[in-house]
Amino acid sequence: MAKIIDGKKISAAVRDGVKAEVEILKQQGINTCLAVIIVGDDPASKIYVANKERACEYTGIESRKYALPADTKMEDLLALIDELNNDKTVNGILCQLPLPKGLDEKRVIEAISPQKDVDAFCHENVGKIMTGEYDFLPCTPAGIMEMLAYEGIDPAGKNCVVIGRSNIVGKPMGMLLLHKNGTVTICHSRTRDLKEVTKRAEILVSAVGRANFVTADMVGEGAVVIDVGMNRDEQGKLCGDVAYDEVEKIASAITPVPGGVGPMTIAVLMKNTLTAAKRQNNLN
Ligand code: GUN
Repeated sequence: MAKIIDGKKISAAVRDGVKAEVEILKQQGINTCLAVIIVGDDPASKIYVANKERACEYTGIESRKYALPADTKMEDLLALIDELNNDKTVNGILCQLPLPKGLDEKRVIEAISPQKDVDAFCHENVGKIMTGEYDFLPCTPAGIMEMLAYEGIDPAGKNCVVIGRSNIVGKPMGMLLLHKNGTVTICHSRTRDLKEVTKRAEILVSAVGRANFVTADMVGEGAVVIDVGMNRDEQGKLCGDVAYDEVEKIASAITPVPGGVGPMTIAVLMKNTLTAAKRQNNLN
């Protein structure tokens, strides 16, 4: 039976660390503020944004929410981002993705000032991830690295396999594992003999977005299995990419869904907002 990697517990430790530092900044007269933009009525996005607001409240970070209608024009969204870029009382800016059809996500991402891009999505921040000189770590991959560190799992020298090559998770995940000296393979929909590759993984990260995608026959004995998926099963129940009940019998450690990677992503967002506030106030 695998050890359950408790994202709720580990993220609470990260959030508490942020809360303490936010309080220290407050005592120096520095307020930490995150602006969150949500466009349209996507129910999943609304839940994610509500969770981010709750984390802000817990850590003492001011959260300013801008809820815009689905028919918002690109120029109006860009004007808001420009205003927030120039607002010295705002340290971090996040525009919840996906955006409604007709809005250009790439342009929106690049419009956010790199110094306030707490998602680490823009070209400048992605480039820094490549070279290892990052200010902001991408929230989900960084949250996973925090989990591994907390559990004493060192990627150095290990076969690390990431399934999924998205810009948000798969690609930066591979890079962070590589920075920690893992031997990294990134798999995707065109990978031949996927099972043969994943079975050799000592650390397996799945970021596919399909319920029950990773089955027991794809996992090697004793692997550490990290599930980034946030899916609904046939009964409408929240589940990850991993067929949990069968895989946990083989893995040495596994993240549950919910209560695994999800809370870590938000904790790193808080950490990045704190980093932004410190940088903008010339503190380290
Ligand atoms: N949509 C799903 N995940 C994310 C995220 O980490 N950041 C933003 N901005 N949108 C998302």
